Amino acid sequence: MAASAQRTVITYGTFDLFHKGHVELLRRARALGTRLMVGLSTDSFNAIKGKTSAISYEDRKLMLEACRYVDGVFPESDWAQKPADIVRFGADVFVMGDDWAGRFDDLARYCHVCYLSRTPGVSSTEIKHLLQQPLTFRMPAIQP
Ligand code: CTP
Repeated sequence: MAASAQRTVITYGTFDLFHKGHVELLRRARALGTRLMVGLSTDSFNAIKGKTSAISYEDRKLMLEACRYVDGVFPESDWAQKPADIVRFGADVFVMGDDWAGRFDDLARYCHVCYLSRTPGVSSTEIKHLLQQPLTFRMPAIQP
């Protein structure tokens, strides 16, 4: 493929307890281009965000890299790194779920900014809550 034909999409997140909502976000993000780069929040950046992941950065990275929609994973360790990442990777599109709608509009100076609708009914937080309960549940099937 000629370099000019490449369209790079970039997204960010913690992706703890990798679930269907993550897969759907990554699938639709990848469909917006020809290469998807994922900025994966490090454990220390999660601490800054007030989040604790059940799965370590190394293992979350391993699982993301195993996803067919992901072409590369790099560490997200700072709120301010996005413009430099967009330039470094030559990103054409910045994608986040719409729980972040409006929060990254200033990145439109660097590339197209796109908020995708979240998959309803599933989140890392919800899975953590469910795992506190006796194991009488099964994750409901969710239509994409
Ligand atoms: N995402 C999504 N649909 C979901 C859950 C997450 O589209 N049901 C998207 C988010 O909007 C974000 C990306 O997946 O763009 C990574 O989200 P992350 O915060 O890691 O996942 P959550 O499950 O939302 O985690 P938490 O419950 O800790 O907030």
